[in-house]
Amino acid sequence: MELRHLRYFVAVAQEQSFTRAALKLRVAQPPLSRQIQQFEEELGVVLIDRASRPSKLTDAGRVMFEQAVQILDRVDELKRIARQMASGHQRRFSIGFVPSTLYGYLPDILREFQAVRPETELSMTELTSLEQIAALKDGRIDVGFGRIPFENTDIVRQLLRNERMIAAYPSGHAQLDQPGSLKLEALTDDPLIVYPKSPRPSYADQVIALFRNRGLQPHSLVEVRELQTALGLVAAKLGVCLVPASVRRLQRNGVSYRALDEKDAISPIIMSYRRRDQSAELVVIREVIQSIYLREGLVFGGA
Ligand code: BEZ
Repeated sequence: MELRHLRYFVAVAQEQSFTRAALKLRVAQPPLSRQIQQFEEELGVVLIDRASRPSKLTDAGRVMFEQAVQILDRVDELKRIARQMASGHQRRFSIGFVPSTLYGYLPDILREFQAVRPETELSMTELTSLEQIAALKDGRIDVGFGRIPFENTDIVRQLLRNERMIAAYPSGHAQLDQPGSLKLEALTDDPLIVYPKSPRPSYADQVIALFRNRGLQPHSLVEVRELQTALGLVAAKLGVCLVPASVRRLQRNGVSYRALDEKDAISPIIMSYRRRDQSAELVVIREVIQSIYLREGLVFGGA
């Protein structure tokens, strides 16, 4: 299989026409059709339904199209990085992060990093903690900020800090006015909304384990894909949710937060990087985090 096959196929799929795709690619139509046919023979599946006008993708074609677009994007990215490295003056530092770290100090870290290293271009990719490991190994990112510890011999994981979990309640909920501290047991009165639904293990499992470790059974479990959805359902009075304390900064109508009085209700923030990576950017980002923690009175390393 050649990249040309992918480019030709993607052009036909996007243009929904062999004629228009040939014009776009600046090739004659017969060789374009032959290339697509060769590609289909090599894969052993029909990708384009030639009887339809405009040309439509078959089911297999749709799956291949999604994958082909991603591969071509990655190839373009590779070329861009190579050009950048050849020109010698711009460096690039790629960061993978779980969305909830954006409510913590990630924006401050990025701002201060850029002030220290204006010559480095930052690239940000939203990835789950597990996805960050694969992305570090194949070089798509240089550092990952996640919440779930995964063991991998090629990757160093450094605990930055442990963040307390707080309870997100629908505004007006009776629990918000209860005297005394909030215990986990009180959360079993309402459906528990957890995220992300996949991949597992995830933050959802950390929350579920808290209840299980105490022999508590949530009223019922609602699994959703992401934090924003979870808070939306809380606002709709469909349940309660445990979130890292920094999410409190996210002022959302219909959601009120209450501190949770449980020592082990914590969510770690973990920095991951390649064991052999000695880049200056890695050193700088660590120094930036340390200086922010010092200023904010936080303990680097979660002690
Ligand atoms: C923090 O909130 O402590 C944090 C967030 C993202 C990356 C590093 C630290």
